[in-house]
Amino acid sequence: MYDFIQKFHSGWAYLALLVLVVAVVNSFIGMSSKKEFTSKDRKIALFALIAIHIQLLVGIILYFVSPLGFASFGQMADKALRLTSLEHPLINIIAIILITIGWSKHKKLVASESKFKTFSIFYGLGLLLILSRIPWNMWF
Ligand code: HEM
Repeated sequence: MYDFIQKFHSGWAYLALLVLVVAVVNSFIGMSSKKEFTSKDRKIALFALIAIHIQLLVGIILYFVSPLGFASFGQMADKALRLTSLEHPLINIIAIILITIGWSKHKKLVASESKFKTFSIFYGLGLLLILSRIPWNMWF
């Protein structure tokens, strides 16, 4: 069980990060070129939202089956364990909340520019937070 969930979380992260990067780049391009927000732009943002939520769900399960998750919670002196048991989950949950807020906010907006701007800010911040707390040396 642990092995499967760990591999899934590790592999899905490539896809989730890729679509999130695409969504952020797309919203920056849309914002700077002042183009119209189309259903294609909405779909890109939606795919990123879904992919990142799947990553979150698998991450929560992993947290309780991994020796590096909840089982290591409290071992603050060990940098690597502090990352996987506290910083990575906490910061990523905050990032995913921001991404979700960005998605809900865009629905209430009418102007294309505001929609692109909202995605640029919320998805962009979420991406930065996620990248800041990935256990890079475990991943590669
Ligand atoms: C977008 C969000 C997330 C991304 C992109 C992400 C990505 C990653 C990556 C790349 C690793 C290293 C995997 C490896 O060893 O090959 C990892 C490890 C881990 N993640 Fe996440 N993660 C995310 C969210 C979460 C969340 C929300 C939790 C918990 C609530 C979580 C719990 C863990 C744990 C416990 C490990 C260490 C697992 C182990 O090797 O036993 N992750 N994550």
